[in-house]
Amino acid sequence: MAINRTSSHGEWSSRTAFILAATGSAVGLGNIWKFPYITGENGGGAFVLIYILCVLFIGIPIMLAEVYLGKRGRLNPIASIKYIADRENRSKNWQLIGLIGIVAGILILSYYGVIAGWTMAYTVRTAFGTLNNIDALGAASMFADLVSDPERLLAWHTIFSIITAIVVAKGVKSGLESAVVRLMPALLVLLLALVIFSAIEGDFYNGFKFMLYPDFSQVTWTTVLIALGQAFFSLSLGMGALMVYGSYLSSEISIPQTCVIVASLDTIVALLAGLAIFPIVISSGLEMTQGPGLIFQTLTVAFGAMPGGQLFGTLFFILLIFAAWTSSISLIEPMIIWLIEKYNISRIKAAIIAAGTAWLLGIGTIISFNVGSEIKIFNMTIFEFLDYLTSNILLPMGGILITIFVGWLISKENIDSELKIKSRVLKASWYFSTRILAPIAVIIVMLNALGFSTNIFL
Ligand code: PHE
Repeated sequence: MAINRTSSHGEWSSRTAFILAATGSAVGLGNIWKFPYITGENGGGAFVLIYILCVLFIGIPIMLAEVYLGKRGRLNPIASIKYIADRENRSKNWQLIGLIGIVAGILILSYYGVIAGWTMAYTVRTAFGTLNNIDALGAASMFADLVSDPERLLAWHTIFSIITAIVVAKGVKSGLESAVVRLMPALLVLLLALVIFSAIEGDFYNGFKFMLYPDFSQVTWTTVLIALGQAFFSLSLGMGALMVYGSYLSSEISIPQTCVIVASLDTIVALLAGLAIFPIVISSGLEMTQGPGLIFQTLTVAFGAMPGGQLFGTLFFILLIFAAWTSSISLIEPMIIWLIEKYNISRIKAAIIAAGTAWLLGIGTIISFNVGSEIKIFNMTIFEFLDYLTSNILLPMGGILITIFVGWLISKENIDSELKIKSRVLKASWYFSTRILAPIAVIIVMLNALGFSTNIFL
């Protein structure tokens, strides 16, 4: 077996290209839409702190492990793991990791596309000046109006699914690199501008305090599980996305540094989004706990009030669509290359099948905001259930299996020769986290949040 195998789907042109693509995957609706609203629902500062700890001690180590698997396997997630398991004389049942990932990716994409559709609708509204001088009440009823209309949601969801399918049909790398390099910095600049606006116009002191002052009295195991799930979701972990992107890495590129850069950028964007949103939520009398509509209602109030808000808001939503789009490409790519490699079909066919599946499943999310809002699975709407199942169960489960597989079942020499972590302290910390801390922490949090008590540990 040749040592320097490459992926048959091509390679990134440089390290920067990989960083950009991985950041494009990580930074998305998870940072700007989901992070603020779940922070709002879970009490603020303590949640943010737990989230950051999860990123540092669990997320980053798993990210290294996942990219390692992809870079070594060079195939779709299922086949990559099987290839590595074979070489390490381990059971081929570990392929399950890849399967969980592919399923999770499509399930996430099914509702991700619907929310991306909201972003598209808001781009049009902002561009046409519908938001000018809107107040909090107006913003709330405008949001309610949109989500109560299944036809409109379906139309936007369909458009988003088609765009995603077209890009992946062309191949991930053509176009993606050059687009990310321009648009990501632009998104960051607009986000900073929003933070400044919100510092001047919003209740910055209280918004800031809400987000950064930890009040542990509200923290339960469920809070911790949600923070953990969000770390997986936001860093695109546990579902094969980074495995696939890792498989396009050329062999001489170092994994650890690149992962730390991607995780830091992702966390900065989420924190900035929070700082931009909370001061406005407070100053305009909106509810912290209003859920998935939070950014759409606060941002519209902000854009409606700011000078040049029409142009600025339009640009912001366009960039958000773009961020959602680069993430959705990575959600669908594992299934696409699996279809191509397994069934020997063309990329175009694979793109149609995968995007079509996510589109069809997305109808469940669409109706959960209107005609089907009464349909409950374990007391959750279809959207809430899909989100809970993927973020809080499937991704962490994929993560545990990855840490056990990489941490315990692959020979140390093989890992060391690939990861090449020079500092002894960092290397020992990575092993400690991958072998012990991450799997045990994730298992304890999941068991407790799901109602099984592990009192011995507390
Ligand atoms: N990380 C993306 C976001 O924050 C979503 C995502 C999850 C992408 C899992 C790929 C895999 O929006």
